[in-house]
Amino acid sequence: MKGVVLAGGLGTRLHPLTKVTNKHLLPVYDRPMIYYPIQALVNAGIREILLVTGGNSAGDFLKLLGNGKEFGLQHLDYTYQEGEGGIADALRLAEHFADHEPVCVVLGDNIIERNILHAAQSFREQKTGAKILLKEVKDPQRFGVPVLDGNKVVRIEEKPQHPRSSYAVTGIYFYDARVFEIIKTLKPSGRGELEITDVNNAYIEGGQLTWDILEGWWTDAGTIESLFLANQLVAKTGANKMEP
Ligand code: DAU
Repeated sequence: MKGVVLAGGLGTRLHPLTKVTNKHLLPVYDRPMIYYPIQALVNAGIREILLVTGGNSAGDFLKLLGNGKEFGLQHLDYTYQEGEGGIADALRLAEHFADHEPVCVVLGDNIIERNILHAAQSFREQKTGAKILLKEVKDPQRFGVPVLDGNKVVRIEEKPQHPRSSYAVTGIYFYDARVFEIIKTLKPSGRGELEITDVNNAYIEGGQLTWDILEGWWTDAGTIESLFLANQLVAKTGANKMEP
């Protein structure tokens, strides 16, 4: 399984912090934000990683990360997203890199306390389809929210005004190679983006989406409030811890 970190977009919710730099280069406690999703993939045993970036200061990722030596990697792949076409538009750029293998996709502003080793292992066994990770949150309306029927996710609603559950779909996704065919069928949403939620709903319609609960704390860092929270959580308990 290969890894993809999505770090494009303009980060407008963090203005003026992101007016001249890239959101994923901002510090979260003692490391640049982009270190956390890369570490999450490395901790899951994934060694081939593609970074999709775009927007401001895209070239600085190369300077910062090089070939990923700090993460014990020998090589990192990079690609560039023109504009801000959405998460699924950024993932589209990974088709050539994935080369028909399954991928674990992590959003560049998602930070986790523990690790995704078990989920990665269970997706390796699942072999086809997709897997998402859910987390109970206080403010589900900020996220993709699953509609549950017993143990089944029957639909995911993107940022619903009236959330149908108290779970968020976290920005960690496992997909088989069909994901790139699904992306080609997507139409831009109301906010003009190709939505990852539409990708996940396509897998649900095909009866091919499984889910797990993410262990430990999880936060995005894409708003002033959540970036502040991320700093506090990392300072207090650390992040990307290995299983005991
Ligand atoms: O954090 C989890 C949430 O992430 C999910 O619950 C939502 O379903 C999903 O849509 C997403 O919501 P956001 O609106 O918070 O995503 P945002 O636009 O902040 O983008 C998150 C990351 O995705 C960002 O840090 C970099 C990457 N991205 C985003 C866009 C719009 C790209 O690489 N390219 C893009 O064009």
